[in-house]
Amino acid sequence: MPQIKFYKRDPIPMEMHKVKIVQKLNLLPADERLKKMYDAGFNTFQLHNGDIFMDMLTDSGVNAMSDNMQSAMLRADDAYAGSETFFRMRDKLEEIFGIKYFLPAHQGRACENILATYFVKPDSCVIMNYHFTTAKAHITRLKGRVEELVADAGLIAKSDLPFKGDMDLDKLEACIKKETPENVAFIRIEAGTNLIGGQPISYSNMKAVTEIAKKYGIVTVMDASLLQDNIYFNKIREEGLKDKTPAEILRMIADLFDIIYFSGRKFGFARGGGILVRDEKLFHSMEDLVPMFEGFLTYGGMSVKEMEAMTVGFDESLDMDIISQGPQFIDYCVKKLDEYGVPVITPGGGLGAHLNAMEFVSHIPQQQYPAGALVCAMYLCGGIRGMERGTLSEERNADGSERFASMELVRLALPRRVFTLSQTEYVIDRVKWVYDHREMIGGLRFTHEPATLRFFTGILEPVSDWPEKLIAAYKAEFGEDQ
Ligand code: F0G
Repeated sequence: MPQIKFYKRDPIPMEMHKVKIVQKLNLLPADERLKKMYDAGFNTFQLHNGDIFMDMLTDSGVNAMSDNMQSAMLRADDAYAGSETFFRMRDKLEEIFGIKYFLPAHQGRACENILATYFVKPDSCVIMNYHFTTAKAHITRLKGRVEELVADAGLIAKSDLPFKGDMDLDKLEACIKKETPENVAFIRIEAGTNLIGGQPISYSNMKAVTEIAKKYGIVTVMDASLLQDNIYFNKIREEGLKDKTPAEILRMIADLFDIIYFSGRKFGFARGGGILVRDEKLFHSMEDLVPMFEGFLTYGGMSVKEMEAMTVGFDESLDMDIISQGPQFIDYCVKKLDEYGVPVITPGGGLGAHLNAMEFVSHIPQQQYPAGALVCAMYLCGGIRGMERGTLSEERNADGSERFASMELVRLALPRRVFTLSQTEYVIDRVKWVYDHREMIGGLRFTHEPATLRFFTGILEPVSDWPEKLIAAYKAEFGEDQ
């Protein structure tokens, strides 16, 4: 459907759905938010949802379901083995990806566990455009290493590069030669590259990467969790793909890979996941890992209701009206913030708007987690919960020193079909206020630091009384009850 035109104003992004079920939101007064932030150990993962006004932590498992997805749940076929629901899901996946063999798993990281357990040996190397936290954690748990070969230009925060997730092909060849092909467990391409701002990868780059992999006999794996965003950008930004349908683009991409896995919490708008394996022999040799870690082979730890919903969600992930909304809202948000001078990742990607904390709060040293501090400031100043995607989300080096992230981002995710444009305007407004008061924000330090995935459960504290001062300024601007 073409973009809706307006009479006497520029077009704005439109919600291509109407609301049928609502959840009431709660805006706590500023002082209460300050208390909740202390209770949560200055870690937005530890906040309670009832204390949050705009939950922009993630788009994982919190996308709104459609009427068709909900009604499909009613026909879920409960069976430990041989559920008809599984066969419907598998057939739909085969129809859209063209791959017959499917291993179900309860979510994306479970697929990553299975893949790492099968392929990674101590000191073997997994080559990626860029890592995702859980993908990397499973590889390093098994003493493997990760090489990230995204092109340098993809890491420049402000840019007009359409495909910042593209891999550097020269680096890829050099890396394979240095490692030797036998020592490369697999090459992983992440669609809609999460940690660098939800940035897409071009079809032409995926094609070139997979051709190089074939030349050296290396297995190729696509992380398709954010594929629906990537396909949107392939269609609107990539030469030669404008006239293709999302389904055609998806199939062109799928045809390049040996293995495709996804988090159904993102791709399919429900909760689950799975691995598609092209080769029958490989599929059978990986099969045992599903009953061992997940559940029987016809549910893999998923609820059958969610599987039915997801099966409908796959089709919706190929509907241009539906997959346009996230990127269009994000683009709107990013452009408004950029015009105001707020450092954001440009161009807007999928998944969410990303604030560049390295510049936003450039006075906070990386040891004091600038993105971690900024994400807390956004909760304090407006009840907006984002996610830190920077040094806090990294793990320390083996010698205990910090591994500084190449980007310090605050992600404000836009789960699909959840927020309206007026809510998005509220977020833009509060980000502008925080930007104008950025000098007041100070750093954080750990009081409890877990060794693995510390961003989930770590407890921190502010290095000074900056939160109290920031809240006082906020109340002076907006009043006690905001
Ligand atoms: N791959 C990508 C690209 C992801 O974004 C995620 C999850 C996973 C794998 C793991 O999937 O959560 O189902 O186990 N991303 C979420 C996020 C957590 O908030 O970005 P999962």
